[in-house]
Amino acid sequence: MEVALECVSCGSTFPGRDDLLHCRQCGDGLQLTLDLRAASLDSLAPAWQSRTPGVWRYRELLPVPHEHAVSLGEGGTALLPVSLVGPPSLQAYVKNEGQNPTGSFKDRGMTVGVTRAVALGRKRVICASTGNTAASLAAYAARASLECVVLVPAGGVAQGKLAQAHFEGARVVGLRGTFDDAMALVSEAAKELDAYVLNSINPYRIEGQKTAAFEVFEQLGRRVPDWVVCPVGNGGNLAAYWKGFQELRTIGATDRLPRLVGVQAEGAAPIADAILEDRREIRPVEKPETVASAIRIGNPANWRKTVRAIRESRGLALKLPDAAIVDAQKRLAREEGIFLEPASAASLAGAMRLAKEGTFAAGAAVVCVGTGHGLKDPEAALRERVDVTPAEPTVASVLAALGGRR
Ligand code: F0G
Repeated sequence: MEVALECVSCGSTFPGRDDLLHCRQCGDGLQLTLDLRAASLDSLAPAWQSRTPGVWRYRELLPVPHEHAVSLGEGGTALLPVSLVGPPSLQAYVKNEGQNPTGSFKDRGMTVGVTRAVALGRKRVICASTGNTAASLAAYAARASLECVVLVPAGGVAQGKLAQAHFEGARVVGLRGTFDDAMALVSEAAKELDAYVLNSINPYRIEGQKTAAFEVFEQLGRRVPDWVVCPVGNGGNLAAYWKGFQELRTIGATDRLPRLVGVQAEGAAPIADAILEDRREIRPVEKPETVASAIRIGNPANWRKTVRAIRESRGLALKLPDAAIVDAQKRLAREEGIFLEPASAASLAGAMRLAKEGTFAAGAAVVCVGTGHGLKDPEAALRERVDVTPAEPTVASVLAALGGRR
């Protein structure tokens, strides 16, 4: 398939085969454009249906050949109906991306991005990360026998994610600084180390992540939801959903597009602020702070794409206090059995807020993206007292520990 790279800012285009992360004209980010003129849902659907669910089910709409895919079985995650968001008339769902191989949506992007790195003959990969990108890249690099370097804010990453990256063989560098500091130097460090950058500024990552939109469409019975609510850090994922749904429209699968809601934490909300204050540019937050460490980001690399996607979709942005995020995380686990990490639960918290305010029409289909598994970030849950009652290994003692209740 014919692919080209297009600058998100000045619109310059470059050949798809070029190994570029930034526009040669203005230095801003790039996205891949695929020539979909010959593609239609009718012609693609039989092949899609003959394959198991997952990212590579949609190989005709991916920019790298699938024959040498570096894969761990990513994608194909459940779309679970949930009743906790709002009135019974609402059709609310969680897209449970915690089911991916390393426990977050990042795997969708890494299978494509690392496949691209191998095709380019690269031997080393690198990323800046709040944790999930690091854990995912390290796994796919191990799978492809590539060296992996990850730059993380020291002390700012959940233990589960660090454990993953470490065991998967990555060299983990803990910077005395923020994620934004790590992001600011990743391209230059990559040059020095001759490493391939796999942050979401890499357009191949976004191509893998857009497959979540295709899955949602199929899981809803070939229907586009009315709303997609997504936590926003760098903004790559929300932009990826938008690209996926737009491509579905291009291939004639739908004439509707969802409205997108980007959710940030109050202490790290440069994108939400720009939307809420109707500004053209974001104002970076110098010291971002939130319990949702995965989205503790003050200067999002993909802000232009994300702000544009929210505006084009006639969408909304929200910034929520940590307490609302943790409350949604807890209620989702307790009432629905879905354990997400705090950053992921931000989408639920956002949808709950909007449902309460009456934003969603009766019968609307609302998809909340659950971006990562709760076990990734157990500290957040363990901040509460964990109620473990000691007992002797006898039934009588167990019953006594339960307060005599049966
Ligand atoms: N949710 C989780 C669990 C994440 O790990 C991230 C990003 C996001 C949401 C936001 O996604 O950046 O595409 O807007 N984590 C990155 C990382 C920054 O390094 O793991 P985004």
